[in-house]
Amino acid sequence: TQRLRVVLLGLGTVGLGVYAHLIRRPDLFEVVRMVVRDLDKPRRIEVANLDVPKSLLSTDVWDAVTQPADLVIETLGGLDPAGDVVHAALLRGRAVVTANKALIASRWWDKLSRFAASERRLKFSAAVGGGVPVLETVAALARHGGVAQVRAILNGTCNFILDALEQRIDFGTALAQAQANGFAEADPHDDLVGLDAARKLELIARAAFGDSSHFELSVRGIDGVTASQAALVREEGLTLKLVGVCERSGAHVRGVVKLHELPAGDFLAGARAEENRIEILAGNGETVRLSGKGAGRWPTALSILGDVHEYLRERRLAGRDEQAPAAVVNA
Ligand code: HSE
Repeated sequence: TQRLRVVLLGLGTVGLGVYAHLIRRPDLFEVVRMVVRDLDKPRRIEVANLDVPKSLLSTDVWDAVTQPADLVIETLGGLDPAGDVVHAALLRGRAVVTANKALIASRWWDKLSRFAASERRLKFSAAVGGGVPVLETVAALARHGGVAQVRAILNGTCNFILDALEQRIDFGTALAQAQANGFAEADPHDDLVGLDAARKLELIARAAFGDSSHFELSVRGIDGVTASQAALVREEGLTLKLVGVCERSGAHVRGVVKLHELPAGDFLAGARAEENRIEILAGNGETVRLSGKGAGRWPTALSILGDVHEYLRERRLAGRDEQAPAAVVNA
């Protein structure tokens, strides 16, 4: 079998994790180019004890389109230049796996959706829940009996900070720690004001209720919360969590992201540090609960690898389907 030629677009926290996984399977993958912002930044993966070969690095994002390759893995984040480059790469016949929730939740979706749906060349499981298979589970339930409501903790950075505040660690220190751990977005403002959670909630709403529903969203984040406030809530036996809730009413889907004071018995109250928790009320009245690491290098990289292997599997199946009639003709 031919090896998959891969371009890595972005080589930060997540991109480096993906690279470490890919080079463990040289039988399946050949990394042909890695696009970075700064060629001279030292890059070393401590766990895998690896250095990144400088000869494969480039600063030109358009290499993802012009370099002969089968698959682009995009971990740049943001809309510009990710939107143009991902779209062009798909038009050029590449497959794209991305963790970019901002991109998938944006207006770009109108242009990108066909590549995800019918062509199955665009995959983004890692955009929600890090290593937790949130979109996969919601989509499966939606196809089999429907989804009534989803409640979820979707931002590891906010959860980590709220946890720290309850332990009377101040906001700035907690945020710096979340950034050092690789949980926060490049611009942590998106985390703190609830935008990151809102984008993930929108992707969940699409998976649950379909693309065409009108989505109304209201968003408030955790900025301004203090350690004494969090400790006060704690003293009442409650815990502060940034929760996203979405449900359908008629043709409208409503999503709300805001702080909740949850009682200890609530499944979402138990989420610690960067953990994400998702509670799905299915159409048949049953509740499905998911939890796991929602941010950071390895959980997110693993989810991307899951998509890459899924694409490989589908490609092989398609190959077999194409060969079958030819074999009949030959016989
Ligand atoms: N900034 C995100 C978070 C990363 O804190 O959850 C994972 O999407």
